[in-house]
Amino acid sequence: MELRFEERGKGPVLLLVHGFPLDRRVWDAQMAALADTCRVVAVDLRGFGESTSAEPFTIESLGDDLHALVQKLGGGPVALAGLSMGGYVALGMARKHPADLRALALVDTKSEADTAEARQNRMKMIEAVRAGGSKAAADAMMPKMLAPDAAERRPQLAARLRQIMESCPPLTIEHALLAMRDRPDYTGDLPGIKMPTLIIVGEADQITPPAVAQGMAGRIPGARLAVIKGAGHMAPMEQPEQVNRALREFLLRL
Ligand code: MLT
Repeated sequence: MELRFEERGKGPVLLLVHGFPLDRRVWDAQMAALADTCRVVAVDLRGFGESTSAEPFTIESLGDDLHALVQKLGGGPVALAGLSMGGYVALGMARKHPADLRALALVDTKSEADTAEARQNRMKMIEAVRAGGSKAAADAMMPKMLAPDAAERRPQLAARLRQIMESCPPLTIEHALLAMRDRPDYTGDLPGIKMPTLIIVGEADQITPPAVAQGMAGRIPGARLAVIKGAGHMAPMEQPEQVNRALREFLLRL
C-alpha cells in the first residue's frame, strides 16, 4: 500500500500524525504556519484519507508504517506530533522505534489503555458504523470533539470536522476501533522516554482532559505542558495560533 503525505518547508522534519476518525487535514493550519521553521510532513495513516487500504492494523503496525516513512524521508530522527490516536501511535513508536524520534509532541492524547467500559463502547460503535456508516461514528464523536458551544459558535469549524469524519471509510473506522481497543498501556514507558517531550491539551478536552495530560507530563522526565485556552479535543484545529506557538517554541529549543 502507499502511504500518502504532504510536505512543506525545509530543515529538520516535523511529522504530524492525525487522530480518529480523521486524516491529515486536521493539521492544515500547522502545515501552513510551521513551514518557515522546519520541514512539515502530514501523513494519512493506513486506511485513512488518501492512504487507501482495506487491511486491518494495530497501533503498533501503524508505527511500523511510520518507521518506513521516516526511512523514506531521509532516515530521521524526526520530531513527531501525534493527535489523540496519533499520540497512541507516537507512544508505540517511542517504545519500538525510539531511534526514529528526536522529540515528541503528545497532543490531546493519553498513555492509558482502554478501560473495560471503553472496550465495550468500541464494539458498540462498530455495530453502529456497520448499520449507519461513517456518519454514525461522526454523530457519536461530534459532541465530544470540540470545546463546549463550539458547534453553535463556530459552525464552519464543526462542519469541516464532520466532513472529515464522514469521509473516513467505514472499514477503516472498524479497524481503528479494534486497534485502539487492543492497544497496550504505555503508562509504564513514560519515565523511560528520554527525548524532549511537549504535551499539549485543550483546556476543555472531554476525551483526554487536562488532568490526564498533567499525569503524563509528571511521568516523562523534563516534559513541558501547554494547556490551550478555548480548545477541546481538537486543539490544533480549534486554536491553531496557540498550538502553533507552542510547537514552534518547542522546535526552536531542540
Ligand atoms: C481520537 O481522537 O483519536 C480518538 O478520540 C481517540 C480514542 O477514541 O481513544
